[in-house]
Amino acid sequence: MPLWHCFIAYEEFDPDLHIQSIGKIDPEYYFYKKIVMRIDILTVVPELLESPFNHSILQRAKDKGLASIYIHNIRDWSTNKHKQVDDYAFSKGAGMVMSIEPIDRAISELKSQRDYDEVIFLTPDARQFVQRDANQLSLKENLIILCGHYKGIDQRVRDHLVTLELSIGDYVLTGGELAAAIVSDAIVRLIPGVLSDETSALTDSFQDGLLTPPVYTRPAEYKGWRVPEILLSGNDKLIDDWKQEQAYERTRRIRPDMLED
Ligand code: 6GU
Repeated sequence: MPLWHCFIAYEEFDPDLHIQSIGKIDPEYYFYKKIVMRIDILTVVPELLESPFNHSILQRAKDKGLASIYIHNIRDWSTNKHKQVDDYAFSKGAGMVMSIEPIDRAISELKSQRDYDEVIFLTPDARQFVQRDANQLSLKENLIILCGHYKGIDQRVRDHLVTLELSIGDYVLTGGELAAAIVSDAIVRLIPGVLSDETSALTDSFQDGLLTPPVYTRPAEYKGWRVPEILLSGNDKLIDDWKQEQAYERTRRIRPDMLED
């Protein structure tokens, strides 16, 4: 079981969160509930999202009934005869801006059907999405993800409709769609039951504050390049110590910032 589900549940001790702690656990200690997460994505280019959501982990989560992802075209809520979803900015030279009306209509319709935990706006001018956010969001039930586009979005959407703003890094993409795929993947793979034991998210880089150690598979020697002898020793204790040391060494070399404070 992903430990942080327990951890977050205990920390906040919210009974609703607590019953979300599931997995290979002692049934005496935990209630058991199958978590089904629903993500509604609002975009002006739904085509961009088809491929990422119909493959890999996101598809597996959908197949197992652990996550349902709905992609909506904001144009469907436009009342304009050209199905326009943007307009000229009031300030000169600022380009096109996403209008509030179709977005408000879309969000209102979704909210009339169920409660949402967060309305997330993906935009480069926000704080960076990190693993901690993925952990926390994986405990939620219903999320709306709004993909930014054009030169920006009417600020009133951000002020009144959005509850969480996230960027995926310090660079600018054409739109928030690829970011939505990234954020959704990072969240959905943490839902208990989505990953198999072997691919458990427990050993991911970042979860214990270190990068993962190197891994090897057969053959033990290829073109004279040998797998570290210790991994062939069969001594679990030595191997664990080696992995820990390698993880630390790698982190120190590649991401020293992760070791600060
Ligand atoms: Cl969330 N959107 C866009 N358009 N660009 C980005 C981003 C998001 N995060 C980093 N760059």
